[in-house]
Amino acid sequence: MSTDQSWMSWSDDTPPPAELHPEIPHPARMYDYYLGGKDNFPADRAAAEQVLSFGPLVRISALANRAFLQRAVRHLAELGIDQFLDIGTGIPTAGNTHEIAQQVNPSARVAYLDNDPIVLVHSRALLAAASQGTATVLQADLRDPAAILADPQVRQLLDLGKPVALLLFAVLHFVDDADDPHAIVRTLVDALPSGSHLALSHATGDFASPTDAAKGPSVYRSASAQLTMRRKDEVARFFDGLELLDPGLVTASQWRPDRPAQETDDRVAIWAAVGRKP
Ligand SMILES: C[S@@+](CC[C@H](N)C(=O)[O-])C[C@H]1O[C@@H](n2cnc3c(N)ncnc32)[C@H](O)[C@@H]1O
Repeated sequence: MSTDQSWMSWSDDTPPPAELHPEIPHPARMYDYYLGGKDNFPADRAAAEQVLSFGPLVRISALANRAFLQRAVRHLAELGIDQFLDIGTGIPTAGNTHEIAQQVNPSARVAYLDNDPIVLVHSRALLAAASQGTATVLQADLRDPAAILADPQVRQLLDLGKPVALLLFAVLHFVDDADDPHAIVRTLVDALPSGSHLALSHATGDFASPTDAAKGPSVYRSASAQLTMRRKDEVARFFDGLELLDPGLVTASQWRPDRPAQETDDRVAIWAAVGRKP
């Protein structure tokens, strides 16, 4: 959802590069559309509109997730964390991780990783202009955590011997059970020292009827990544061995809100929490 698109290599007159697969809905571009961004193609908008037609809580949940990301990153920076490993970063939008963290600590460093090439195209242009070497963006797949931990560019920017905030916002629901997302998170957390934190958000069908809860995943079946919603207890297991910060595992809107409670807050379809490695 970058606001300045003048750098983009395609326009209404120039077709996008084929490797971006504009004909296949991509979760990153669908999410950009939910947030009101313009970095999406007709196939993304059509799929996103289908999901949005399920009710107002879809967009409310996307916005609540983004707001949680920003509150969590600010809180982590205020705790003194100055290194962030942000996996499943998404297309840049207002209030990206490095911008929020650097409001608190200008020398905070962020490694952004995403497996979608379109995210890389957008993020590289934004970061080249804005981050002055304190952030990097890499193509990487969360399903290969060992490769992430060994990546020379990650290790050049982040000192994995010192506390790191591992950020997994709205990405684990794109990892199938068959890929064992809990083992992936464990591998990443195990590699980080005491004082590191895990901040995570995850889509859930806990507040919907079984029929309604199945609708979202059915749309994503035609997309480049499948959606697996998880129950609260399944999301809680990502924090095994960690100390949950107050207020624990709650809907994204209920995590340290910075505005008066809304009627929808307890039905936002995203579980959210931050945990500390003892
Ligand atoms: C819904 S967006 C979330 C963006 C941002 N983290 C946020 O919460 O605002 C999900 C992102 O995860 C990325 N993603 C999905 N599966 C992934 C994987 N296996 N490895 C890395 N990134 C992945 C998508 O490309 C997309 O950019």
